Amino acid sequence: MRRSVSGSPAAPQGEGHAGPLRGVASTRVAAMATSREQRGSVRTAVVWDALEAALEGRTLDVVDIGGGTGGFAVRLAESGHRVRVVDPSPDALASLSRRAREADLEVVGLQGDVTDLVEVVGAGSADVVLCHGVLEVVDPVLALVNIRQVLRPDGLLSLVVGQRHAAVLARAMAGHFQQARNLLDGRQPVDARTGRRFTAAELEALLAAAGFTTSAVHAVRVFTDLVPSALVDLEPGAAAALVELERAVADRPEYLPLATQVHLLASR
Ligand SMILES: C[S@@+](CC[C@H](N)C(=O)[O-])C[C@H]1O[C@@H](n2cnc3c(N)ncnc32)[C@H](O)[C@@H]1O
Repeated sequence: MRRSVSGSPAAPQGEGHAGPLRGVASTRVAAMATSREQRGSVRTAVVWDALEAALEGRTLDVVDIGGGTGGFAVRLAESGHRVRVVDPSPDALASLSRRAREADLEVVGLQGDVTDLVEVVGAGSADVVLCHGVLEVVDPVLALVNIRQVLRPDGLLSLVVGQRHAAVLARAMAGHFQQARNLLDGRQPVDARTGRRFTAAELEALLAAAGFTTSAVHAVRVFTDLVPSALVDLEPGAAAALVELERAVADRPEYLPLATQVHLLASR
């Protein structure tokens, strides 16, 4: 199924409580939304820095495989790129459609997955493919082979993947020692929903085997997931300082094993 979603002004707010209760509730909802947004941008700042630098000054055909509700896709469309999102989830595509409409932007949502990616978007049709948070739950070899096919010569892949060493540490710190042990060698998925974790070296080897040349490797969320969210939400300036700290270590290989995710840029 193919959906083309183009923007239109945001729908009017629904009717809720009347009187002062409504005011209190809406203030709380607004504060929660702001803090969610803030946490989201802290988590993705390092990826955005690299991506925007790589795409700067060009208008490109972008495919976001497993693009979900469009967190990356809509912002890329805002920068002028022609963006298609491929995702198996109709709910995610519906949210993407709403998000694009509210931003008055055109983003194409296509139902599909890594197995039928080439049929869904066409071989050699993309300058850039985003594959963020997807490799964990699919056959990584097949996914990378298919992604390479949809890229044009010299096309760019932006890959974000859960990093194993940090996942082992997180399980151990939560007291889930058996889970941490099971994760150590990467043979077992964390769970069915969140899938497998990879090391940066494994990802580079997978990319090389699929015919990609890796140009950059970044540590993502080295500190963010370890810091209590109340501290970031409530302390003035904390979110910005945390982003700066994440940026300061993103290119330092010694911090890679501590990163929740790894971001790689690779060319076809
Ligand atoms: C963790 S979310 C990541 C969403 C988005 N890429 C981001 O970074 O915010 C994983 C996404 O992968 C999608 N997905 C799951 N299985 C997939 C598959 N076999 N092929 C492509 N996408 C898949 C899910 O529907 C979901 O939207």
